[in-house]
Amino acid sequence: MTMKVAFIGFGGVGQALAEIFLKQQKGEKPSFGFEPEVVAVSDIMKGSVYHPNGLNIEELLSAVRDSGSLDAYPDQTGLIRGWDSMDTIKDTNADMIVEVTFTDVKTGQPAIDHCQTAFEHNKSVVTTNKGPVALAYDELSALAEKNDVFWGFEGTVMSGTPALRLPVMTLAGNEITEIKGILNGTTNYMITEMEKGKTYKEALEKAQSLGFAEADPVSDVEGYDARYKTAILANYLMGKKIASEDIYCKGISDLTLEMVKEALDENQKWRLLSRLTKREDGSVEASVKPELVDGNDPLAGVNGPTNAIVYECDLSGPIMLTGAGAGLIETGYSLFIDIIHYHRQNALTKL
Ligand code: HSE
Repeated sequence: MTMKVAFIGFGGVGQALAEIFLKQQKGEKPSFGFEPEVVAVSDIMKGSVYHPNGLNIEELLSAVRDSGSLDAYPDQTGLIRGWDSMDTIKDTNADMIVEVTFTDVKTGQPAIDHCQTAFEHNKSVVTTNKGPVALAYDELSALAEKNDVFWGFEGTVMSGTPALRLPVMTLAGNEITEIKGILNGTTNYMITEMEKGKTYKEALEKAQSLGFAEADPVSDVEGYDARYKTAILANYLMGKKIASEDIYCKGISDLTLEMVKEALDENQKWRLLSRLTKREDGSVEASVKPELVDGNDPLAGVNGPTNAIVYECDLSGPIMLTGAGAGLIETGYSLFIDIIHYHRQNALTKL
């Protein structure tokens, strides 16, 4: 089955997914029963191309990598250039929109409008943008359901490590009473470096140079990035609509080398923990803050930019999942997981 795909945004994450599609086309990855056909790419900086019969993925990647622009994509009969994101979502023949634009997480835009427009035009969406899920989950999921389309956002929490689908699919049947986790790689990396003796400033500079940090690292160090992810977990896994600004949030900017050393001397470690706890009355308490964890706690063994999450389950007990929380290939892969699930769901409903 052919799946017609349009990319809205074509930065590193989008390109990583395009590479995976290319591997599928070359037979280096299983087909999973579908052949992705990239029909459109629209990027606010790099330009846009659309061909209803499909574009050449290798040519798309070379154009953006060699020249930084889709203008270098070769001309061919029927090729349309210059459509913006909305034209591309509404008027191309794509049935799957890959939404990977640069989004302002404070407003969730333009990703919220992109998702909304796609759903209104009966198109499915996969995205790694936290904004739409953290800020407009109820509205967008209702709209997707009403229009009988798929919305995948696995990569919004822990990139390609399946922090969202694992509890829903594999741990089904449990009641999850508490979730705690290290959901921000930059701060965990910084704390680990401070445990080795680096100052806060040195550790932050190193995290920035390695590319884990957000464009504005304030979002990492003050806990805002982890807070958006915590809101997504509350909405999606605990069924509680909690606005991210209502989540208690304290980052690591007050953490000193002395505090880190003192903790180590007591066989403890500081970790920036996101925590969601179900109360007796069914409400959920949510926080993001540095917490001291015992040296023997599995979370104390999570070092560097790695993320981890623990689900306290009533039947299976605590289940911990750990893995990358960022990275281009890992985040590109999270979109691929969503697309495989979309296809499987579609194939099942057609039986
Ligand atoms: N800046 C984020 C982090 C990237 O460090 O975890 C992934 O959301």
